[in-house]
Amino acid sequence: MRIAVLGLGTVGRHVVAAIDSERELFRSRLGEEIEVSRILVRDPDKKRPQSMQDRTTFAAEEILADPDVEIVVELLGGFEPARSLIEAALKAGKSVVTANKEVIARAGPALSLQAQPGADLLFEAAVAGGIPIIRSLQESLAGNRLQAIYGIVNGTTNFILSRMQQAGASFADALEEATRLGYAEAEPSDDLDALDAVRKISILASLAFGGWVDVDAVAKEGIRNITEVDIAEARSLGGVIKLIARAEATPEGLTLGVSPTLIPLGHPLADVQGAQNAIYVRGEPIGELIFQGPGAGGPATSSAVIGDIIDAARSRRVGGRSVALPREPAPLVPLGRHAHAYYLRLRLRDEPDALALVAQAFARAGVTLRSVRQPMHLGGAATISLVTGPTRRAQLEEARLALRRSPAVLAEESLILAEMEPV
Ligand code: NAP
Ligand code: HSE
Repeated sequence: MRIAVLGLGTVGRHVVAAIDSERELFRSRLGEEIEVSRILVRDPDKKRPQSMQDRTTFAAEEILADPDVEIVVELLGGFEPARSLIEAALKAGKSVVTANKEVIARAGPALSLQAQPGADLLFEAAVAGGIPIIRSLQESLAGNRLQAIYGIVNGTTNFILSRMQQAGASFADALEEATRLGYAEAEPSDDLDALDAVRKISILASLAFGGWVDVDAVAKEGIRNITEVDIAEARSLGGVIKLIARAEATPEGLTLGVSPTLIPLGHPLADVQGAQNAIYVRGEPIGELIFQGPGAGGPATSSAVIGDIIDAARSRRVGGRSVALPREPAPLVPLGRHAHAYYLRLRLRDEPDALALVAQAFARAGVTLRSVRQPMHLGGAATISLVTGPTRRAQLEEARLALRRSPAVLAEESLILAEMEPV
């Protein structure tokens, strides 16, 4: 079985190296050998192992026109030209395996319709690296009515938060290390500003709850504003900060969001460190499940990609199975309908009425406060951290607007969800 790999970066190199070195293993699994016959690259000056260099081409159309190539493995990243190449490969009757969450989240349903009989579009590596969550939702859990998914689905941000929490590393140093280890996207703002996690929870929710979720309908907050002060405050409150992606089925529809969230110590998601991902799933009749494992990096991701390649190869030989992706939009609860507890860190003028003015802003918006602490007092300014009681987003925004206008407040420095589930 001849396959082509588009892209020879962090993931592509691991996939090609593993297929080259594990020929016997994959032959035993499939009953025939898999061979990477062509590799699409872009940069003519990049140094590549000679055995890979010999198979490279700059011409995607050569690969698409090659009748011997049965499976195209897209590992370029980004929306275009990845989307168009996937579409062209499917139209040409090839099976496609991809790790590209941006393309699947934005164009998955339309692309899946292009798969010809006997050919598949598979994307296990698009969510949570090596964790087999896509297949679990599509196949093993298909008999359940699922109620909620909460996950750490971005390895880069979990790596950064873990390094800041455990080793006191700076944000910049931790990001640099995550990039060097191959966890970050080519555009790391996708990780830091939560776009990557939004794409992943959109894909998971679409598969779990049976309606396609538009990425633009997911509320999001990234981790750029989290500082060592928030981390110390979280510790004092008995927890840690994690970037959590949420999807909950309610009688009114789905609620979705991605935001930094305070997780109490002892909760299984609090212990997920480094580039590990973890996904909590609740449903009937299964109850509760947690999937945990390496969520980013070449080796973990290549595990999911190669699993898909073997699956696509098998189905070409023994008969295709079409992956049905829902096409109708999912019924969503409008953003902000549910109440959450929030943590905020504010810098205040060091004046006698400052705290009273802050309390007034919350009171006028109908927001109760569960705790108020003052971790820092520096050069005429005081830092306070607050945890609210159950608050709808509109109430919170009303209080934040009043705080921005208040003479007492110098800055709102961070905003974190204080509880994972709505309260
Ligand atoms: P990467 O290291 O940036 O590699 C991308 C490769 O694609 C590079 O070799 C690049 O070539 C090539 N490329 C990009 N655009 C091209 C074009 N127009 N024509 C030809 N070649 C092109 O990315 P990666 O980390 O391997 O990620 C690949 C995909 O897997 C992305 O969709 C990513 O989101 C997904 N993914 C990554 C991870 C991870 O941990 N890294 C985990 C799960 C999923 P040059 O080197 O010549 O620029
Ligand atoms: N940049 C992504 C992450 C790669 O850090 O999770 C895995 O999808």
